[in-house]
Amino acid sequence: MKAAPLGAIKNMFRHQHRPNGTEGVESVGLFDIHCHILPGVDDGSADIDTSLALLDREYADGVRTILLTPHYRPGMFENSEKHIRAAYAELGREAGKRFPDLVLLLGCELHSQADMTEKIQDREQFRMAGTDHVLVEFSSLDSQEQIRGCIFELLSGGYQPIIAHVERCACVVRDLEFARHLTELGAKLQVNADSVIGREGRETRRFCQTLMEQDLLSFIGSDAHDLKHRPSRMGECAEWLEKKMGAEYMRKILHDNPGRIFGAGDGHGI
Ligand SMILES: [Fe+2]
Repeated sequence: MKAAPLGAIKNMFRHQHRPNGTEGVESVGLFDIHCHILPGVDDGSADIDTSLALLDREYADGVRTILLTPHYRPGMFENSEKHIRAAYAELGREAGKRFPDLVLLLGCELHSQADMTEKIQDREQFRMAGTDHVLVEFSSLDSQEQIRGCIFELLSGGYQPIIAHVERCACVVRDLEFARHLTELGAKLQVNADSVIGREGRETRRFCQTLMEQDLLSFIGSDAHDLKHRPSRMGECAEWLEKKMGAEYMRKILHDNPGRIFGAGDGHGI
């Protein structure tokens, strides 16, 4: 039997029973904590029209809170905080006209580098929506020592690391015990929606599912970059999760976990 249509998923989030017995329609919605929808700042959306089209797709999929996470990587993506905030304000203004209940929060995908905690202290830009959470990206061939060292440094500095698309880290994929070790240290693991639904191959999908079955996964993000090659597929991912892992697990990963950290944002960056 085919998975429940997306409308059913949206309704699950929207209709809540209130204490007085009346049923209110509240857009609780899905979260996307990792994407490159902010226009003109990295290798993601090139312009405001593309960004709005990407938001349109997210909205149609039932997403109601989005963490905009432009890359920051020395020598490759080095936007100033001022530039990022200007793009955020512009997107917030335009999005507010079309999607009044869509919350946009500003985050960052920070590439692992030397002296990270010092750099994060200096720039709020590197944190996720002003929280102590940091979405950190590793190179695919970084060693376990490199990853452990970075995670330890962030935790020691009082930050909460979220490892971006952990399914790309070869040394984690081949050693599930290392994945467990990272979560026991305090890191949270994120995988991409495309990986979950099998667009990155069967082995990657299997690894993602194993993380879920072992309860090692905290978040899924779209990592959306553009409309053609890397759009957001959060709706398809929600359907997959509901079918394979159950509605409760889907809600935990796509709503409850991110909601506990980012649910209080008032959005649109204005
Ligand atoms: Fe990304």
